[in-house]
Amino acid sequence: MNYLTLDRNTLLALEQQLTQTYNHFKQKKLQLNMARGKPCPEQLDLSSGLLEGLQGDYQAEDGTDCRNYGGVAGLPEARRLFAELLEVEPDEIIVHGNSSLALMHDLIARALLLGVEEGTPPWSRQPVKFLCPSPGYDRHFAICEFYNIKMIPVPMREDGPDLDLIEKLVATDELIKGIWCIPKYSNPTGITFSDTVVSRLAAMKTKARDFRIFWDNAYAWHDLTDEPDQLKNILTACKEADYPDRVYIFSSTSKITYAGAGLAMVASSKKNIDRLTKQMSIQTIGPNKLNQLAHVRFFKNAHNLRLHMQKQAALIRPKFQLVFDLLDAELGDKGIATWSRPRGGYFISLNTLPGCAKEVVRRAAEAGVVLTNAGATFPYGLDPEDQNIRIAPTYPPLAELKTALELFTVCVQLVSIEKILQDRKLLTDNFYQKQAQIG
Ligand SMILES: Cc1ncc(COP(=O)(O)O)c(C=O)c1O
Repeated sequence: MNYLTLDRNTLLALEQQLTQTYNHFKQKKLQLNMARGKPCPEQLDLSSGLLEGLQGDYQAEDGTDCRNYGGVAGLPEARRLFAELLEVEPDEIIVHGNSSLALMHDLIARALLLGVEEGTPPWSRQPVKFLCPSPGYDRHFAICEFYNIKMIPVPMREDGPDLDLIEKLVATDELIKGIWCIPKYSNPTGITFSDTVVSRLAAMKTKARDFRIFWDNAYAWHDLTDEPDQLKNILTACKEADYPDRVYIFSSTSKITYAGAGLAMVASSKKNIDRLTKQMSIQTIGPNKLNQLAHVRFFKNAHNLRLHMQKQAALIRPKFQLVFDLLDAELGDKGIATWSRPRGGYFISLNTLPGCAKEVVRRAAEAGVVLTNAGATFPYGLDPEDQNIRIAPTYPPLAELKTALELFTVCVQLVSIEKILQDRKLLTDNFYQKQAQIG
């Protein structure tokens, strides 16, 4: 039953029915939150052995007492473990505190103040611009907005951002200094960049000599199926293209062990990592090495971390499936929404009819279900079509998720019907206005 082709009376009857259902939900006084991609308590419980792992033995493999100062670039065994996982060399990675977002923020702040390499000026000498594949991650955009970096939205496709547009822009504009990328199970669309997209990003000619790719591989190991997406190694691609220093790769264990008490890392060319290590040694005498030691002892090797991620997937896969099933059942074939079916990551991205997302989110909130703000997935919070909504299914228990989704699908239907009726009325009004002018 495609709502776009239904006659006015049928739509009005449906609207009345849906309003009743909506009011029933309102009476329940729900208090559900699906705004942020947080691990649920059961996911966190999977790492409960981590904090018991030290057992009074605080010595790293090189004899370092992890309770003491030092080791800015991270424990050698932690660097080795995550270097293997990110397919770089141990001297091409820094394992640091708990937040990759903090590493990204600090890197941009330093780039603005100091530039990114010897012989290039601080970015802030000129009005800097960043390319922002959209929809994307609101906190990336928040960093740019905070530092007055002008954001240029770039459309996201099924295989990554629009490279034709990116190549054109970076080739001519020296003020474009960087691009945000979430290359695997992207936030929020869930897509993984194709090999071609990775190669083109690595090899494109940029007017700015000091152009950098911020490669936020937050969901590198977060597969939900037995056939994980494969992501081409961008550091290798950059080296092969003769731009070895072009990329900074970020990741963390925020959604592997503990969000807020995991490990974060940045990988890049050895030259970039050496420079960063020096700069970071001004900022800190060393990271929390006890947490690094606990993580290394907990996982022991990359294989075990992957097994751990299979346990994570077993917990959250039913939640994703529930969302897919409810969306299919309630919105499928109605012509009013499309949504992603990611094979990993943390989000489902839904597009309403143009002009409906904000109102859907508002209605859901009014009935007690908080979603990510509509528009948040675009630079400056401005979704040009007002149609993208990010669904974060991991945190609520299944029963709550079901209620939240049922309400959500009612809101999508209601708002869409109102919009269809309103658009038709506008069309008719315009028609009669024109007739009157002619007549
Ligand atoms: C794409 C992306 N990058 C970074 C983060 C935050 O990472 P961290 O906890 O390491 O700061 C998130 C959290 O949702 C994310 O989705």
